[in-house]
Amino acid sequence: MEIKITLLIIVNFSLILIPVAKSQLQSGFYSSTCPKAEATVRSTVETHFKNDPTVAAALLRLHFHDCFVEGCDGSILIKGGSAEINAVPNLGLRGFEVIDDAKSQLESLCPGVVSCADILALAARDSVDLSSGPNWVVPTGRRDGRVSLASKASNLPSPLDSIDAQRQKFAAKGLDDRDLVTLAGAHTIGQTDCRFFRYRLYNFTTTGNSDPTLSQSTLTDFQKQCPRSSDGTERVALDKDSQLKFDVNYFKNVRDGNGVLESDQRLWGDPTTRDIVQKKTHKFKKNKMESALLLAPKLVSNPSREFRSNVRQFQSSFCGKSIATVEFTRTDAYTNHKSIAKITSLFSLGKKKVKTIKRETVIPDPDYRIPIVLLGFAGGLVYGDNLLAAAPVGLLGLLLLFQTTRVRFVFDDEALEVKVGEELDESGENVFVGGKNRWKYSSFVNWELWWPNFPILVYFKETQTKPEGQIHFFPVIFNGKQLYDVMVERAGPSKTSGPN
Ligand code: HEM
Repeated sequence: MEIKITLLIIVNFSLILIPVAKSQLQSGFYSSTCPKAEATVRSTVETHFKNDPTVAAALLRLHFHDCFVEGCDGSILIKGGSAEINAVPNLGLRGFEVIDDAKSQLESLCPGVVSCADILALAARDSVDLSSGPNWVVPTGRRDGRVSLASKASNLPSPLDSIDAQRQKFAAKGLDDRDLVTLAGAHTIGQTDCRFFRYRLYNFTTTGNSDPTLSQSTLTDFQKQCPRSSDGTERVALDKDSQLKFDVNYFKNVRDGNGVLESDQRLWGDPTTRDIVQKKTHKFKKNKMESALLLAPKLVSNPSREFRSNVRQFQSSFCGKSIATVEFTRTDAYTNHKSIAKITSLFSLGKKKVKTIKRETVIPDPDYRIPIVLLGFAGGLVYGDNLLAAAPVGLLGLLLLFQTTRVRFVFDDEALEVKVGEELDESGENVFVGGKNRWKYSSFVNWELWWPNFPILVYFKETQTKPEGQIHFFPVIFNGKQLYDVMVERAGPSKTSGPN
């Protein structure tokens, strides 16, 4: 008789109950309280994008500037004289009207539920997708900050920063060189004022020469676009020839001496970041931008923010409006801003079609390291005449070896399913806890990879099998990095950092 596949599959420690803290963010956080939250943000961004595709870059930058100062808490949206929005590095930010638009619609649909910080994170994701870039799942449940201070924004990167200064600012947020290069890759869309780089064109050195790292043809182009005598407010594409498309062209530009900002071009001057840029000229790896944005512990949230249970109390009909404290005062429009907030009609937006994105199925490759280590260990025990201990270790090694050849984790558009064999047959009922070995991502409460640098076990908790939550453990007999990447993309970030 065929033994239940689950037993054969892997050692599934589903019944072992270990208390695990709930992750702060989760995908589908609003699925019961405001089911149309994500679709509403999407349709709002689409509407604005159709009128002006450059709004995508504005929203992505807005999200980054929000996250870099005290975490992704929406505090950049708060208006007021001493608020973050008025800090010098933030003066060129745009796209606020899109967030206000989405927020006002969501207030009509489900008053006081959806945080401004989540709207911003979702809008940034949708912007990248609409610009033909990667798409990712945004775990939600961010809390809105109630304090917004321009003085806290001095750590934002400057276009004049050396590579060491950039490195330091990113490292302070838990971001490494790879994250720095990946995130700087956001400059594949959008524009800059000439004043942020014109000094490179005319008087870069004391002798009045241009920056020698600029290619000759680009120098001539930029000099035409940014004349020496202008006021510096002309807009220039950050990604020459491809400013509306989220692609690898930015990295090619940096390689070829066409980087617009000095900070961008410096990525080519340092051996470590150059290497990363070089690799990225081939392919913009899916998941990388979002994992950098989502996983840096210091970007996600700040414990001093509102508690989620209090969100209703503090939400406002417009982001930042009703939560004024002594730290700031609200003004009615973004008067210090290039863009004037404008609220478009609520009614026309309801008719817009929401684009649905079907994600490809991902199956991590098998990885034989755990069974090999176990068998090696058993061999060592045999060699030392410790047959009693060698037998169970060897048997477990053999079992896992067998399972590694045939068991696959299949991540389709909506769920993780355990399948077996070449034909990827269904694995039947879970012998321990019942139900199919298929769990929807929307039911995931939390997951972890132990340990990120040498993954042995993957843990997850889902509410599909039992409403109060069911825990599962599986040995990692798959490529840990691929497993981690797809889990982040489909189930949202875990608290541990990823495997190297
Ligand atoms: C590495 C350090 C960075 C520096 C020094 C930097 C600096 C700048 C500057 C000076 C501009 C032009 C602003 C203007 O003229 O209005 C700009 C634009 C932009 N930045 Fe960055 N940035 C950095 C990192 C990032 C990151 C990490 C992101 C997003 C993940 C980002 C997204 C953008 C976008 C999309 C634009 C275009 C905005 C628009 O068209 O309105 N930047 N950045």
